[in-house]
Amino acid sequence: MTSATLTINGKEIELPILEGSEHEVGINISKLRSQTGIVAYDPGYGNTGACSSGITFIDGEKGILRYRGYPIEQLAEQASFVEVCFLLIYGHLPSQAELADFREQLTRHTLIHEDMKKFFEGYPPSAHPMAIMAAMVISLSAYYPDTPDLVDLNIIRLLAKAKTIAAFSYKKSIGQPYVYPRNDLDYTADFLHMMFAVPAETYTVSPTIAKALNLLLILHADHEQNCSTSTVRMVGSSQASLFASIGAGVCALWGPLHGGANQEVIQMLEMIRDDGMNTQKYVDMAKDPNSDYRLFGFGHRVYKNFDPRARILKGAADEVLAELGVSDPLLTIAKNLEEVALQDDYFIQRKLYPNVDFYSGIIYRAMGIPTDMFTVLFALGRLPGWIAQWKEMRGDAETRINRPRQIYNGSGESTYVPLNQR
Ligand code: SDX
Repeated sequence: MTSATLTINGKEIELPILEGSEHEVGINISKLRSQTGIVAYDPGYGNTGACSSGITFIDGEKGILRYRGYPIEQLAEQASFVEVCFLLIYGHLPSQAELADFREQLTRHTLIHEDMKKFFEGYPPSAHPMAIMAAMVISLSAYYPDTPDLVDLNIIRLLAKAKTIAAFSYKKSIGQPYVYPRNDLDYTADFLHMMFAVPAETYTVSPTIAKALNLLLILHADHEQNCSTSTVRMVGSSQASLFASIGAGVCALWGPLHGGANQEVIQMLEMIRDDGMNTQKYVDMAKDPNSDYRLFGFGHRVYKNFDPRARILKGAADEVLAELGVSDPLLTIAKNLEEVALQDDYFIQRKLYPNVDFYSGIIYRAMGIPTDMFTVLFALGRLPGWIAQWKEMRGDAETRINRPRQIYNGSGESTYVPLNQR
């Protein structure tokens, strides 16, 4: 099959068919308007490929997720987050020498400019850390020129400084002094140290918590053309800087239907706990056509079988809480909610399963991460994916400034009425 035939207004046109390396098939409509004067219409882009990409492959029916071809299950089990960053951004697993050099570069760039600390002083303690993260990421362009020749260095700077910004925003919110990065700690240990160390005592990073954080960051690292990644590509297509493009991605991720869902899940589970563990009530609310209430952490645009990340996190939640000796009633409620929903026709018919956000918050809680930092952790994990997708887009000869069309349904031509005659 090399082309599709479209008949419109008595005219037939051939639209080329393209097939991906995993045999996904698409109709190339890039000449549709010039040949027919009409546009395709697909609100939410559920049926539209915005680009071709070699970074992440998802098969929603089979629950497959691979970064540069490597199954998420293998990377989650055996890789470090820093290795996955390298894999996503540079396209191959690093050699030992490449990884050592990459780690060294990341270590050397963890500090933010001392003047950037003044930004934090302007925020109230109640400021959501995603607001701070977005503003600080974009503000990096005020300190580090974002010219094309500096892109590789700025990629390192962004990866290295984002965790410092995240930890500083947490310390600011609880009124504690900032803890500076330490060059003797690896990525996850350094972040945990900056988050939880206090001047009065020595903080020892728990290997269990560091391992759990490594897993969570890997599972969030990329997910092809999701809302925030598409935002990064959209903004980057205008040749806006790396920092500006990623800052826009942070904003898109914040939404409760996207990365903000992990915070919403915990708040939902707490509501169920405080409402007499009445799980069925919330399932019924989510099914009610007259209610816009949704079960957060359920459903996905692509996964119509199961989200492999949720499957891994469900197992990890049991392990991490057991290793930490934490008993969290919210985990029991989550498992019960999953069981009730997956037996309910409403969810079965709509193929709604737990997604990556359903169990991640349970683990973050057990690690001592406050709820409003959950989406910041999602952003730290997704950073290498955003960067890789931005880099791929900027190097793609097919890239044009993203400028969708519309179907206009507003008023016809009207004549202006002067103010004194209205
Ligand atoms: C992430 O795209 C990605 O890859 C995202 C992500 C990534 O790694 O980047 O995987 C991360 O964002 C995961 C999703 C986190 N969001 C949530 O958990 C919020 C709750 N989920 C939903 O809002 C919803 O499922 C979405 C946003 C995830 C997907 O929305 P879609 O694909 O637009 O689906 P839809 O809204 O058209 O729903 C189809 C039907 C509707 O019912 P009907 O109108 O057909 O009767 O399913 C219903 C919806 O009402 N539905 C739900 C539901 N999700 C969908 N009903 C109750 N609870 C839900 N969670």
